[in-house]
Amino acid sequence: MAAAHPLPPAVVSLPASLLLLFLLHHVHVVDAECEPVACGNFTIKYPFWLGAPSHPPPEPSCGHPAFELWCGGGNASASMRGSAIQVLSIDYGASSLVASHSRFSGRVDGVCRADFNMSSSLALSPFNISPSNMALCLLFDCNGTEPGGRGYANATATCDRPIFAYLGGRYDRDTPPSIQTGNCTYTYLPVLGSEAAVSTAANYSSLLKAGFLLDWAGTGGIGDCPACVASGGQCRYRNAIGALACLCPGGKLRGSTCADIQAADRLITR
Ligand SMILES: *[C@@H]1O[C@H](CO)[C@@H](O)[C@H](O)[C@H]1NC(C)=O
Ligand SMILES: *[C@@H]1O[C@H](CO)[C@@H](O)[C@H](O)[C@H]1NC(C)=O
Ligand SMILES: *[C@@H]1O[C@H](CO)[C@@H](O)[C@H](O)[C@H]1NC(C)=O
Ligand SMILES: *[C@@H]1O[C@H](CO)[C@@H](O)[C@H](O)[C@H]1NC(C)=O
Ligand SMILES: *[C@@H]1O[C@H](CO)[C@@H](O)[C@H](O)[C@H]1NC(C)=O
Ligand SMILES: *[C@@H]1O[C@H](CO)[C@@H](O)[C@H](O)[C@H]1NC(C)=O
Ligand SMILES: *[C@@H]1O[C@H](CO)[C@@H](O)[C@H](O)[C@H]1NC(C)=O
Repeated sequence: MAAAHPLPPAVVSLPASLLLLFLLHHVHVVDAECEPVACGNFTIKYPFWLGAPSHPPPEPSCGHPAFELWCGGGNASASMRGSAIQVLSIDYGASSLVASHSRFSGRVDGVCRADFNMSSSLALSPFNISPSNMALCLLFDCNGTEPGGRGYANATATCDRPIFAYLGGRYDRDTPPSIQTGNCTYTYLPVLGSEAAVSTAANYSSLLKAGFLLDWAGTGGIGDCPACVASGGQCRYRNAIGALACLCPGGKLRGSTCADIQAADRLITR
Protein backbone atom coordinates (compact mmCIF):
# COMPACT_ATOMS: atom_id res chain seq x y z
CA MET A 1 0.00 0.00 0.00
CA ALA A 2 1.25 3.45 -0.89
CA ALA A 3 1.56 5.56 2.22
CA ALA A 4 0.97 9.29 2.07
CA HIS A 5 3.60 10.52 -0.38
CA PRO A 6 4.58 14.10 0.10
CA LEU A 7 3.86 15.92 -3.16
CA PRO A 8 7.09 15.94 -5.16
CA PRO A 9 7.98 19.51 -6.13
CA ALA A 10 7.72 18.49 -9.82
CA VAL A 11 3.99 17.94 -9.40
CA VAL A 12 3.46 21.66 -9.29
CA SER A 13 4.50 21.94 -12.93
CA LEU A 14 2.66 18.79 -14.13
CA PRO A 15 -0.53 19.25 -16.20
CA ALA A 16 -3.64 19.41 -14.03
CA SER A 17 -4.99 16.11 -15.42
CA LEU A 18 -1.95 14.23 -14.16
CA LEU A 19 -2.27 15.85 -10.77
CA LEU A 20 -5.91 14.80 -10.69
CA LEU A 21 -4.95 11.19 -11.52
CA PHE A 22 -2.43 11.24 -8.72
CA LEU A 23 -5.01 12.56 -6.28
CA LEU A 24 -7.71 10.07 -7.35
CA HIS A 25 -5.30 7.17 -6.91
CA HIS A 26 -4.29 8.52 -3.55
CA VAL A 27 -7.90 8.88 -2.35
CA HIS A 28 -8.67 5.33 -3.48
CA VAL A 29 -5.86 3.92 -1.38
CA VAL A 30 -6.91 5.87 1.70
CA ASP A 31 -10.61 4.95 1.48
CA ALA A 32 -10.98 1.32 0.42
CA GLU A 33 -12.37 0.49 3.84
CA CYS A 34 -15.40 2.79 3.56
CA GLU A 35 -16.43 2.10 -0.02
CA PRO A 36 -19.97 0.93 -0.84
CA VAL A 37 -20.32 -2.82 -0.43
CA ALA A 38 -23.09 -5.26 -1.36
CA CYS A 39 -24.83 -7.20 1.39
CA GLY A 40 -27.77 -9.44 0.58
CA ASN A 41 -30.18 -7.51 -1.58
CA PHE A 42 -28.82 -4.02 -1.11
CA THR A 43 -25.70 -1.91 -1.02
CA ILE A 44 -24.32 -0.61 2.22
CA LYS A 45 -23.16 2.96 1.66
CA TYR A 46 -23.09 6.27 3.52
CA PRO A 47 -24.65 7.06 5.97
CA PHE A 48 -24.53 3.28 6.56
CA TRP A 49 -21.19 1.51 6.67
CA LEU A 50 -19.95 -2.01 7.03
CA GLY A 51 -18.49 -2.98 10.38
CA ALA A 52 -17.74 -6.35 11.91
CA PRO A 53 -17.44 -7.76 15.43
CA SER A 54 -13.68 -8.30 15.10
CA HIS A 55 -13.09 -4.98 13.45
CA PRO A 56 -12.79 -1.81 15.54
CA PRO A 57 -14.11 1.21 13.67
CA PRO A 58 -11.47 3.27 11.87
CA GLU A 59 -10.85 6.82 13.07
CA PRO A 60 -12.21 8.88 11.43
CA SER A 61 -15.00 6.33 11.19
CA CYS A 62 -16.90 5.61 7.98
CA GLY A 63 -20.06 6.94 9.59
CA HIS A 64 -22.08 7.50 12.76
CA PRO A 65 -22.02 4.45 15.07
CA ALA A 66 -25.82 4.01 14.81
CA PHE A 67 -25.41 3.35 11.07
CA GLU A 68 -22.93 0.52 11.48
CA LEU A 69 -24.23 -2.69 9.89
CA TRP A 70 -22.82 -6.16 10.18
CA CYS A 71 -23.29 -8.41 7.19
CA GLY A 72 -23.35 -12.14 7.67
CA GLY A 73 -25.24 -15.38 7.52
CA GLY A 74 -25.57 -17.86 4.67
CA ASN A 75 -27.42 -15.49 2.38
CA ALA A 76 -25.87 -12.31 3.69
CA SER A 77 -28.36 -10.51 5.86
CA ALA A 78 -27.52 -7.27 7.61
CA SER A 79 -28.04 -6.54 11.26
CA MET A 80 -27.71 -3.26 13.10
CA ARG A 81 -24.36 -3.85 14.78
CA GLY A 82 -25.08 -7.49 15.45
CA SER A 83 -28.31 -6.68 17.34
CA ALA A 84 -31.64 -8.45 16.92
CA ILE A 85 -32.73 -5.79 14.43
CA GLN A 86 -32.29 -7.05 10.87
CA VAL A 87 -32.21 -4.68 7.91
CA LEU A 88 -34.30 -6.00 5.01
CA SER A 89 -33.94 -3.10 2.60
CA ILE A 90 -32.71 0.49 2.48
CA ASP A 91 -34.18 3.36 0.45
CA TYR A 92 -31.37 5.94 0.36
CA GLY A 93 -33.48 8.44 -1.59
CA ALA A 94 -36.24 8.42 1.00
CA SER A 95 -33.85 8.09 3.98
CA SER A 96 -35.73 5.03 5.19
CA LEU A 97 -35.21 1.36 5.76
CA VAL A 98 -37.32 -1.71 6.39
CA ALA A 99 -36.23 -3.65 9.46
CA SER A 100 -37.53 -6.65 11.32
CA HIS A 101 -36.81 -8.29 14.64
CA SER A 102 -34.80 -11.49 14.32
CA ARG A 103 -37.48 -13.29 16.35
CA PHE A 104 -39.72 -13.12 13.32
CA SER A 105 -37.29 -13.69 10.50
CA GLY A 106 -36.53 -17.33 11.24
CA ARG A 107 -38.56 -20.39 10.35
CA VAL A 108 -40.08 -20.63 13.84
CA ASP A 109 -43.12 -18.40 14.24
CA GLY A 110 -41.90 -15.72 16.63
CA VAL A 111 -45.41 -14.55 17.44
CA CYS A 112 -45.49 -16.76 20.53
CA ARG A 113 -42.56 -14.86 22.01
CA ALA A 114 -43.64 -11.38 20.97
CA ASP A 115 -44.14 -9.94 24.44
CA PHE A 116 -41.44 -7.32 24.17
CA ASN A 117 -41.25 -3.64 23.33
CA MET A 118 -39.87 -2.97 19.83
CA SER A 119 -38.99 0.64 20.68
CA SER A 120 -36.76 -0.32 23.55
CA SER A 121 -35.13 -3.07 21.44
CA LEU A 122 -33.93 -0.42 19.02
CA ALA A 123 -31.08 1.94 19.58
CA LEU A 124 -33.51 4.47 18.16
CA SER A 125 -31.55 7.66 17.80
CA PRO A 126 -31.18 8.86 15.05
CA PHE A 127 -33.90 6.54 13.71
CA ASN A 128 -37.60 7.10 13.98
CA ILE A 129 -40.29 4.42 13.70
CA SER A 130 -42.28 5.86 10.81
CA PRO A 131 -45.83 7.01 11.56
CA SER A 132 -46.85 5.18 8.37
CA ASN A 133 -46.58 1.86 10.23
CA MET A 134 -49.68 0.15 11.56
CA ALA A 135 -49.90 -1.42 15.01
CA LEU A 136 -50.23 -5.17 15.33
CA CYS A 137 -51.51 -5.96 18.83
CA LEU A 138 -50.83 -9.27 20.50
CA LEU A 139 -52.95 -10.21 23.50
CA PHE A 140 -52.08 -12.99 25.94
CA ASP A 141 -52.49 -14.00 29.61
CA CYS A 142 -56.18 -13.21 29.29
CA ASN A 143 -57.28 -14.77 32.57
CA GLY A 144 -60.08 -16.70 30.96
CA THR A 145 -61.58 -13.74 29.14
CA GLU A 146 -60.23 -14.46 25.67
CA PRO A 147 -61.23 -12.00 23.00
CA GLY A 148 -63.22 -13.75 20.32
CA GLY A 149 -64.79 -10.91 18.38
CA ARG A 150 -64.43 -9.77 14.81
CA GLY A 151 -60.88 -8.73 13.88
CA TYR A 152 -59.19 -10.90 16.52
CA ALA A 153 -57.11 -13.72 15.07
CA ASN A 154 -56.56 -16.75 17.28
CA ALA A 155 -52.86 -17.67 17.21
CA THR A 156 -53.18 -20.16 20.05
CA ALA A 157 -52.76 -23.23 17.88
CA THR A 158 -49.17 -22.33 16.97
CA CYS A 159 -48.19 -21.44 20.55
CA ASP A 160 -48.30 -23.26 23.85
CA ARG A 161 -50.57 -20.64 25.39
CA PRO A 162 -53.53 -18.58 24.24
CA ILE A 163 -52.51 -15.58 22.16
CA PHE A 164 -54.57 -13.33 19.89
CA ALA A 165 -53.64 -10.81 17.19
CA TYR A 166 -55.47 -7.62 16.23
CA LEU A 167 -54.63 -4.89 13.72
CA GLY A 168 -55.07 -1.72 15.71
CA GLY A 169 -54.59 1.37 13.54
CA ARG A 170 -51.53 3.58 13.27
CA TYR A 171 -48.47 2.70 15.32
CA ASP A 172 -47.47 5.25 17.93
CA ARG A 173 -44.81 4.22 20.38
CA ASP A 174 -46.31 6.25 23.21
CA THR A 175 -50.00 5.68 22.59
CA PRO A 176 -51.41 2.17 22.73
CA PRO A 177 -54.07 1.50 20.09
CA SER A 178 -57.54 1.96 21.50
CA ILE A 179 -58.91 -1.54 21.25
CA GLN A 180 -60.74 -3.81 23.65
CA THR A 181 -58.05 -5.66 25.55
CA GLY A 182 -60.27 -7.11 28.27
CA ASN A 183 -58.25 -8.72 31.01
CA CYS A 184 -55.41 -9.53 28.64
CA THR A 185 -51.84 -8.40 28.84
CA TYR A 186 -50.89 -7.00 25.45
CA THR A 187 -48.08 -5.66 23.38
CA TYR A 188 -48.14 -3.84 20.06
CA LEU A 189 -45.58 -3.89 17.31
CA PRO A 190 -45.10 -1.78 14.19
CA VAL A 191 -45.81 -3.46 10.84
CA LEU A 192 -45.54 -1.98 7.33
CA GLY A 193 -48.55 0.14 6.46
CA SER A 194 -48.44 -1.07 2.84
CA GLU A 195 -48.61 -4.72 3.98
CA ALA A 196 -51.23 -4.08 6.65
CA ALA A 197 -53.46 -2.44 4.03
CA VAL A 198 -53.80 -5.76 2.20
CA SER A 199 -53.85 -8.00 5.29
CA THR A 200 -55.96 -8.95 8.24
CA ALA A 201 -54.84 -9.85 11.77
CA ALA A 202 -54.81 -13.48 10.61
CA ASN A 203 -51.77 -12.59 8.47
CA TYR A 204 -49.83 -11.73 11.65
CA SER A 205 -46.99 -14.09 10.80
CA SER A 206 -46.21 -12.64 7.37
CA LEU A 207 -46.77 -9.11 8.69
CA LEU A 208 -44.15 -9.59 11.39
CA LYS A 209 -41.70 -11.12 8.91
CA ALA A 210 -42.18 -8.25 6.45
CA GLY A 211 -40.96 -5.82 9.11
CA PHE A 212 -41.62 -2.13 9.62
CA LEU A 213 -40.42 1.21 8.32
CA LEU A 214 -37.77 3.29 10.05
CA ASP A 215 -36.60 6.63 8.79
CA TRP A 216 -33.79 8.97 9.55
CA ALA A 217 -33.47 12.69 9.01
CA GLY A 218 -31.33 13.40 5.94
CA THR A 219 -27.76 12.47 6.87
CA GLY A 220 -28.92 11.52 10.34
CA GLY A 221 -28.71 15.08 11.55
CA ILE A 222 -24.94 14.73 11.42
CA GLY A 223 -23.47 17.67 9.54
CA ASP A 224 -23.99 18.59 5.93
CA CYS A 225 -22.81 15.54 3.98
CA PRO A 226 -24.16 16.79 0.59
CA ALA A 227 -22.05 19.95 0.92
CA CYS A 228 -18.96 17.85 1.61
CA VAL A 229 -19.64 15.61 -1.42
CA ALA A 230 -20.36 18.63 -3.62
CA SER A 231 -16.93 20.00 -2.72
CA GLY A 232 -15.25 16.75 -3.85
CA GLY A 233 -14.99 15.13 -0.41
CA GLN A 234 -16.31 11.99 1.19
CA CYS A 235 -18.29 11.96 4.43
CA ARG A 236 -16.73 10.49 7.52
CA TYR A 237 -17.48 10.67 11.22
CA ARG A 238 -15.14 11.60 14.04
CA ASN A 239 -16.13 9.64 17.11
CA ALA A 240 -13.84 11.71 19.30
CA ILE A 241 -15.86 14.88 18.75
CA GLY A 242 -19.13 13.31 17.58
CA ALA A 243 -19.30 15.21 14.31
CA LEU A 244 -19.14 14.86 10.56
CA ALA A 245 -15.73 15.09 8.99
CA CYS A 246 -15.14 15.71 5.30
CA LEU A 247 -12.31 13.65 3.82
CA CYS A 248 -10.81 15.67 1.01
CA PRO A 249 -8.63 14.70 -1.96
CA GLY A 250 -5.14 14.12 -0.68
CA GLY A 251 -6.43 12.70 2.60
CA LYS A 252 -6.98 15.99 4.43
CA LEU A 253 -9.82 16.09 6.95
CA ARG A 254 -12.06 19.14 7.15
CA GLY A 255 -14.98 20.00 9.41
CA SER A 256 -17.51 20.68 6.66
CA THR A 257 -16.30 20.99 3.03
CA CYS A 258 -13.15 20.81 0.91
CA ALA A 259 -13.77 24.27 -0.51
CA ASP A 260 -10.61 25.77 0.99
CA ILE A 261 -8.46 22.90 -0.34
CA GLN A 262 -9.97 23.20 -3.82
CA ALA A 263 -9.18 26.88 -3.81
CA ALA A 264 -5.55 26.06 -2.90
CA ASP A 265 -5.42 23.45 -5.71
CA ARG A 266 -6.62 25.99 -8.21
CA LEU A 267 -3.77 28.24 -7.18
CA ILE A 268 -1.25 25.37 -7.57
CA THR A 269 -2.52 24.21 -10.97
CA ARG A 270 -3.21 27.61 -12.47
C1 LIG B 1 -29.72 -19.32 0.57
O1 LIG B 1 -30.71 -19.19 -0.46
C2 LIG B 1 -30.86 -20.37 -1.26
C3 LIG B 1 -31.83 -20.07 -2.41
O2 LIG B 1 -32.79 -19.09 -2.04
C4 LIG B 1 -31.35 -21.51 -0.35
O3 LIG B 1 -31.52 -22.69 -1.10
C5 LIG B 1 -30.33 -21.74 0.77
O4 LIG B 1 -30.82 -22.70 1.68
C6 LIG B 1 -30.07 -20.44 1.54
N1 LIG B 1 -28.99 -20.65 2.50
C7 LIG B 1 -29.08 -20.30 3.78
C8 LIG B 1 -27.90 -20.61 4.62
O5 LIG B 1 -30.07 -19.75 4.25
C1 LIG C 1 -33.58 -10.92 -1.31
O1 LIG C 1 -34.71 -10.75 -2.14
C2 LIG C 1 -35.36 -11.97 -2.48
C3 LIG C 1 -36.46 -11.65 -3.46
O2 LIG C 1 -37.15 -10.50 -3.09
C4 LIG C 1 -35.86 -12.63 -1.20
O3 LIG C 1 -36.48 -13.86 -1.51
C5 LIG C 1 -34.69 -12.88 -0.25
O4 LIG C 1 -35.15 -13.40 0.98
C6 LIG C 1 -33.95 -11.59 0.00
N1 LIG C 1 -32.76 -11.85 0.79
C7 LIG C 1 -32.49 -11.22 1.94
C8 LIG C 1 -31.21 -11.60 2.61
O5 LIG C 1 -33.24 -10.39 2.43
C1 LIG D 1 -41.65 1.02 24.92
O1 LIG D 1 -40.36 1.62 25.07
C2 LIG D 1 -40.35 3.01 24.83
C3 LIG D 1 -38.91 3.47 24.85
O2 LIG D 1 -38.18 2.86 25.88
C4 LIG D 1 -41.23 3.68 25.89
O3 LIG D 1 -41.24 5.07 25.68
C5 LIG D 1 -42.64 3.14 25.76
O4 LIG D 1 -43.46 3.69 26.76
C6 LIG D 1 -42.63 1.62 25.91
N1 LIG D 1 -43.97 1.11 25.64
C7 LIG D 1 -44.55 0.20 26.42
C8 LIG D 1 -45.92 -0.24 26.01
O5 LIG D 1 -44.01 -0.26 27.40
C1 LIG E 1 -58.37 -20.30 20.16
O1 LIG E 1 -57.80 -21.49 19.64
C2 LIG E 1 -57.64 -22.51 20.64
C3 LIG E 1 -56.86 -23.67 20.02
O2 LIG E 1 -57.00 -23.70 18.64
C4 LIG E 1 -59.01 -22.93 21.15
O3 LIG E 1 -58.89 -23.92 22.14
C5 LIG E 1 -59.69 -21.69 21.76
O4 LIG E 1 -61.02 -22.02 22.16
C6 LIG E 1 -59.76 -20.56 20.75
N1 LIG E 1 -60.23 -19.37 21.44
C7 LIG E 1 -61.13 -18.54 20.91
C8 LIG E 1 -61.55 -17.38 21.74
O5 LIG E 1 -61.60 -18.73 19.80
C1 LIG F 1 -61.73 -9.06 34.25
O1 LIG F 1 -61.68 -9.87 35.42
C2 LIG F 1 -62.55 -9.45 36.45
C3 LIG F 1 -62.33 -10.30 37.68
O2 LIG F 1 -61.48 -11.37 37.43
C4 LIG F 1 -64.00 -9.54 35.96
O3 LIG F 1 -64.87 -9.07 36.95
C5 LIG F 1 -64.15 -8.67 34.70
O4 LIG F 1 -65.42 -8.83 34.16
C6 LIG F 1 -63.11 -9.06 33.65
N1 LIG F 1 -63.19 -8.11 32.55
C7 LIG F 1 -63.41 -8.49 31.31
C8 LIG F 1 -63.42 -7.39 30.28
O5 LIG F 1 -63.58 -9.65 30.98
C1 LIG G 1 -54.54 -12.04 35.44
O1 LIG G 1 -54.59 -12.78 36.66
C2 LIG G 1 -53.37 -12.72 37.38
C3 LIG G 1 -53.52 -13.66 38.56
O2 LIG G 1 -54.82 -13.63 39.08
C4 LIG G 1 -53.12 -11.28 37.82
O3 LIG G 1 -51.91 -11.19 38.54
C5 LIG G 1 -53.01 -10.41 36.58
O4 LIG G 1 -52.86 -9.05 36.94
C6 LIG G 1 -54.24 -10.55 35.71
N1 LIG G 1 -54.02 -9.84 34.46
C7 LIG G 1 -54.83 -8.86 34.05
C8 LIG G 1 -54.44 -8.20 32.73
O5 LIG G 1 -55.82 -8.51 34.64
C1 LIG H 1 -53.57 -13.31 4.36
O1 LIG H 1 -54.04 -14.61 4.69
C2 LIG H 1 -55.00 -15.11 3.78
C3 LIG H 1 -55.54 -16.42 4.36
O2 LIG H 1 -54.50 -17.21 4.84
C4 LIG H 1 -54.29 -15.31 2.45
O3 LIG H 1 -55.23 -15.80 1.49
C5 LIG H 1 -53.77 -13.95 1.98
O4 LIG H 1 -53.04 -14.12 0.77
C6 LIG H 1 -52.86 -13.37 3.02
N1 LIG H 1 -52.50 -12.02 2.62
C7 LIG H 1 -51.24 -11.59 2.63
C8 LIG H 1 -51.03 -10.17 2.18
O5 LIG H 1 -50.29 -12.30 2.95
